[in-house]
Amino acid sequence: MRFATAFLLAGLVVQGARAEQVSDRFAPETATVASRAAPQQGTARTDMVVAAHPLAARAGLDMLEAGGTAVDALVAAQMVLGLVEPQSSGLGGGGFLLHYSSESKDVTSIDGRETAPAAATPDMFLGDDGKPLPFFTAVVGGKSVGTPATLRLMAEAHRRHGRLPFADLLEPAIRLAEQGFPVSPRLADLIAAEGDRLKHDPAAAAYFFDATGAPLKAGAVLRNPAYADTLRRIAAGGEDAFYRGEIAADIVARVTGDATNPGRLATSDLENYTVIAREPVCNAVFSVEVCGMGLPSSGGIAILQILGLVEPWGIERMSPQAPETWRLIGDASRLAFADRERWLADPAYVRAPVSGLLASGYLSLRAKLLDGPGALPEVAPGLPAFDDGALRPPPPAGVTPELPSTTQVVIRDADGDILSYTGTIENGFGSRLMVRGFLLNNELTDFSFAPAGSDGTPVANRVEGGKRPRSSMAPMIVLRDGLPILAIGSPGGSRIIGFVAQALIAHLAWKRPVAEIVAMPHVLNRFGPFEVEAGTAATALVPGLQALGYRVEVQDLNSGLAAIAVTPNGLEGAADPRREGVVYGR
Ligand code: GLY
Repeated sequence: MRFATAFLLAGLVVQGARAEQVSDRFAPETATVASRAAPQQGTARTDMVVAAHPLAARAGLDMLEAGGTAVDALVAAQMVLGLVEPQSSGLGGGGFLLHYSSESKDVTSIDGRETAPAAATPDMFLGDDGKPLPFFTAVVGGKSVGTPATLRLMAEAHRRHGRLPFADLLEPAIRLAEQGFPVSPRLADLIAAEGDRLKHDPAAAAYFFDATGAPLKAGAVLRNPAYADTLRRIAAGGEDAFYRGEIAADIVARVTGDATNPGRLATSDLENYTVIAREPVCNAVFSVEVCGMGLPSSGGIAILQILGLVEPWGIERMSPQAPETWRLIGDASRLAFADRERWLADPAYVRAPVSGLLASGYLSLRAKLLDGPGALPEVAPGLPAFDDGALRPPPPAGVTPELPSTTQVVIRDADGDILSYTGTIENGFGSRLMVRGFLLNNELTDFSFAPAGSDGTPVANRVEGGKRPRSSMAPMIVLRDGLPILAIGSPGGSRIIGFVAQALIAHLAWKRPVAEIVAMPHVLNRFGPFEVEAGTAATALVPGLQALGYRVEVQDLNSGLAAIAVTPNGLEGAADPRREGVVYGR
């Protein structure tokens, strides 16, 4: 275990440096944060919020201090995130919520995934040559915009689990939007990296660049009166103020009127949008029950498969320092990604063998494939049983680019409710279209651009009108003896699956605390090369992985893990040192 600790501590050095930088650079520029430090790990007795920005976490904790529930805190935090971390999530996007109720003792989930407009068609991301469009050609503009879902998700979660008046939960975001907030270093870097792409839309260009056209710098105070006005309308008129009337009309006009890349969203898509309460997917592994979001996210299913595939090989006794350990995790991930690509899509459109993919017999058979000295030469999807007992041949693989983005919030309240929420507008800055103070998503590019395989057989995750694009988002809650012991999740596109699976293995199998599991260097495999995090101790694994037969790429791996562990001594929280998230609690 000495080696394991050394390996994990390498991440903690990064964490310390980053925490200092973040707290320095969030120096007192607004009254709200003036007296607050920005800790990236901490302990608390009863309540805790971990979110991707100090102002969002603060808004959440304020609601808990006012007697609100975890969901009240989430609504306040999400509304602030849509302002201060606008590139990642907001009213123009969607998300998934996993929630444990201390009253019912149940884990439930709400699917707030954007939908394809009713007028969407399977070929809409093909070019004139019949080939999939280049990613950003598809993303930037109206074509990629799905029906925004975040407000419906927040409102439904609040109806089920909220306590404070909904309008009160919007107040912190309204105040900050009117008074202004300091552009964070991360937001400034991302605006600068965007360059002209973010100038596609005049409203976004005016908001994210100064009068000379230069990208806003860290510390610049940004006001967003249009967002404040949108939130005030919602506070007064509820969801209908957004999904009907002037705001909905403006969203549709911007999407359909985009000069170079018009989309197909209609006001009826907004009026008809509903969230779906779904059964979470749960499996017993490492002597606990691990629960995640089911379809249309592939995240929970893929992670449960990875955990179920590595457990029989005694991963608990294997060292994180050894390439062989990562061979096991990496090839388990390749097997899970093979199944994900072929089988998983919106269950309203595609029959997906979810129980079959998670059945112990199926996982045991797949785990046997991991018995070998080196990298699996070939990885194919399996043949899980459908609920009717039938076996069906897998459909062809699609083409889904999925770049990193998104935000993660975990919250625990004094009643013992705990939630894990992953929200998104898909790519950083979404479609780049800005309406009434918020960015619109590009979630439709989470569909396969190719609608069919070479023989014409339809791809499961093809675009279809009204369908929900497959996600990788993976809000997770872990229970022991029916009580929650961990809530976790991360942004990161399809890398979310590896980020969260690795953190769960480190916590559940290697017994590492949350501060270590969010910071440990990443080693991922998404059905391609091994991706090893640059600048970390994990690069020492590269020769060993290559010797086992893998292609390896060393690169930045920008997770944004957030975790709360419920321990006998209280709450332990941690935010990923790679981003600006913080832990606040009491
Ligand atoms: N758009 C990110 C995801 O759904 O996985």
